[in-house]
Amino acid sequence: MSNTIRFGVSLDEELLRMFDAILVDKGYTNRSEAVRDLIRSSLIEEKWGDGPEACGVLILVYDHHRNDLSRRLTNIQHEFYEVIITSLHIHTDHENCLEIIVLKGATQKVRELARGLVSVTGVKFGVFNPAPGGSEFK
Ligand code: NI
Repeated sequence: MSNTIRFGVSLDEELLRMFDAILVDKGYTNRSEAVRDLIRSSLIEEKWGDGPEACGVLILVYDHHRNDLSRRLTNIQHEFYEVIITSLHIHTDHENCLEIIVLKGATQKVRELARGLVSVTGVKFGVFNPAPGGSEFK
């Protein structure tokens, strides 16, 4: 077993308040264990990409009023149509859209699309969840 290292993290007060609320809801008794789980998830996500094919679910939340955001997100998806199995668009309120996009195919393209959509300026929330089914889970 390796040594345990302590380190500090600077965080916006409101973000930390929300994080703490989530910890309580999920049953964590301290921040360290929650941060460890987040790091483990991140490492698993990196491992996930080792196989030639992969799948996963992408979740996006964005304001469709913002500039040409909807058009940009759609254009990117059309560039990668071959790895999009299905998508679901929900108008969550007057401004916001929630999109759930199921991806499956060449790992490189799945990864590129997921990173590309999540990083578009104006996307309020974007997360990619690796899913079993690809060769990395054999
Ligand atoms: Ni919408």
